[in-house]
Amino acid sequence: MRVLTLPEAEVPAELKLQVAELQDLVWPRPPGPSADPVHDPALSPSSMLLVDGDRVVAALDVLSKPLTHAGRTYAASGLSAVVTDPARRGRGYGRRLVSAARAAIEEGGADLGIFTCDRELRGFYEGAGWEPLPGAVLVGGTVGRPFPSDQDGFDKLTMAAFLTGFARRHRAEFAGARIGLYPGEVDRLW
Ligand SMILES: CC(C)(COP(=O)(O)OP(=O)(O)OC[C@H]1O[C@@H](n2cnc3c(N)ncnc32)[C@H](O)[C@@H]1OP(=O)(O)O)[C@@H](O)C(=O)NCCC(=O)NCCS
Repeated sequence: MRVLTLPEAEVPAELKLQVAELQDLVWPRPPGPSADPVHDPALSPSSMLLVDGDRVVAALDVLSKPLTHAGRTYAASGLSAVVTDPARRGRGYGRRLVSAARAAIEEGGADLGIFTCDRELRGFYEGAGWEPLPGAVLVGGTVGRPFPSDQDGFDKLTMAAFLTGFARRHRAEFAGARIGLYPGEVDRLW
């Protein structure tokens, strides 16, 4: 098994279709699986796939943008659409990919990894090197049309990785804070 990392737009169509099928099982999108890119190109989307032969076992996307918080700007990346083939869950594949993504984000020079997840997945992400930021709210969408992670009906936990000395020095400013990510209208909470 190997991890493939490449820009979303360069994922071979056959693999992209498999990823779309896995994603559609969890997040159905009309009109059905397509090999078209799904993310905003402004967020430099890259895809990471755990592949067994020619089969995609698990997949995720990494999105990136500058994030300004408490007057400082960080190079930030986050995870999106993390999914493992339902037939192969519970075997450590998801953790392996999410852990590889943390390493890739760090190697890519980001100061900060940050995203939200369902609370029950805290242990899954912690086991892959991500840390919870209890009480922190990630504000997605746009400044004019914010899409916060604490809106009604959501029960999201913010997960982070402070990857550079710069980010680690200012870690305390993120705890319990409202963090304006504003990735736009396409990937509203990436
Ligand atoms: C979440 C998901 C990617 C996990 O993939 P996976 O390959 O089954 O995960 P792993 O086998 O690597 O699990 C690693 C650990 O996380 C735990 N875990 C996995 N899925 C979990 C879940 N849904 N709830 C709670 N814990 C979970 C496992 O029990 C395991 O813990 P252990 O090492 O103590 O046994 C997979 O369940 C999935 O595709 N879910 C649907 C999509 C989704 O919810 N994505 C996350 C969006 S934020």
